[in-house]
Amino acid sequence: MKLWGGRFETGPSEVFERFSGSLHFDRKLVAVDIRGSQAFARALERVGILNADERTGLVKAFDELLSESSSPAFYEGATDEDVHTLVIRKLKEKTGGLADKIHTGRSRNEQVSLDVRLWMRGEIDQCRVLMVDFLGSLLTLARTYQNAVIPGYTHLRRAQPVLWSHYCLAYFEMFSRDLERLEQARTRVNVLPLGSGALAGSGFPFDREAIAKDLGFDAITRNSMDVSGDRDFVLDFMYAASTTMLHLSRLCEDWILYSSEEFRWMELGDGVTSGSSLMPQKKNPDSLELIRGKCGRVWGDFNALYVTMKGLPMTYNRDMQEDKEPLFDCAYQLAGCLEMIRGVTETVKLHVEVPAEAAEESWAVATDLAEALARSGTPFHQAHKIAGRLVLESLNTGKKPADWTAEQLVQFAPEFKPEMVALMKPAEGMKSREVPGGTAPARVAQALADAETRVESYRNRL
Ligand code: ARG
Repeated sequence: MKLWGGRFETGPSEVFERFSGSLHFDRKLVAVDIRGSQAFARALERVGILNADERTGLVKAFDELLSESSSPAFYEGATDEDVHTLVIRKLKEKTGGLADKIHTGRSRNEQVSLDVRLWMRGEIDQCRVLMVDFLGSLLTLARTYQNAVIPGYTHLRRAQPVLWSHYCLAYFEMFSRDLERLEQARTRVNVLPLGSGALAGSGFPFDREAIAKDLGFDAITRNSMDVSGDRDFVLDFMYAASTTMLHLSRLCEDWILYSSEEFRWMELGDGVTSGSSLMPQKKNPDSLELIRGKCGRVWGDFNALYVTMKGLPMTYNRDMQEDKEPLFDCAYQLAGCLEMIRGVTETVKLHVEVPAEAAEESWAVATDLAEALARSGTPFHQAHKIAGRLVLESLNTGKKPADWTAEQLVQFAPEFKPEMVALMKPAEGMKSREVPGGTAPARVAQALADAETRVESYRNRL
């Protein structure tokens, strides 16, 4: 069965059918296709194309198809061009001639947009749940080691001491923005395209607002040509997913490093690591590596559709059928990665003394010393120079920060005050970073409490 064919003298070639068919992937849309068609049957009744009995018959047949569609037998031997054709053929098998009315004033161009939107809505909501759960686990990890001190890095060189919880909250902010992007993408997805026809608007006076309400859409699209030609709503989600993967890949890279023998800061759970078939001692961070690897894959998905859409003439072009496989893969990988990173986050253990020692012995306190001098009246450029000379002298003589006494400090440069020796402890200088967004323990405690409240509000929005 075809949804077209009247104007053709011969049917499509076997090669073309095989080449152009999409059922093997767009069957993922079967449930939303059926739900959309049920709403469309109700719309057809409202414009007088179907009577109440006909509508009831079709909706009931669709219900049956919906439950049958979860069994593989539903697709056995199916050679239909796409999922929309399959569903209508099956409907015809159940209801005979009545099924011929279901496509009145409707085009597959709007139907595919509708189906993808309905499907994406569910996927985005699932990803939002996974994201909120992950954000919660990140905050638990921050709380567990709230006052642990680590060296913060720039250029992957020890820069300034920060709290572990401050570091965790940095990722919390990145992933919170990703969650916002998912929510924003959902807003653009959740708009009803039905009523647009193939490109010019349907020839039947549908109450589009009523269809939108029936299907849980927040709004209706404003232009029928835009509907046929638009895949921005898919790209919006894939961009949100790509940026989430970008952030995940950076977190993974951090933790692969931090859990290495070179760093020895953290221990990954046995449940999320694997061994080597040859080297008995190995404990490899495969879960993190795979997330980092899948980032490339998701960007590939995004890029594939981005490039496919470039330069397409208005409105629908069959090129656009290429949207689905990247979208499906992107959503699947994102959900998998969010689930996995939460598993890693929940089982990570920090060896607090190792990063604390790294912060202590590496002169990450030099900025605190320079700023203390500036606070007591030394112009900063001079203070910077004095602290720099202190570091150089210490490196040349093998002195660690903790080796300096108050007396030696004042002797080294009269600008130093004896009490400044306390700043040789990383946890001390940190206290001055009270500015909003800074790593002072009191400020971080507040930020952490705020973040916990925010997670609750994200959860309430689900
Ligand atoms: N399988 C098609 C797609 O995914 C559905 C729309 C077909 N429309 C058409 N005019 N051939 O884009």
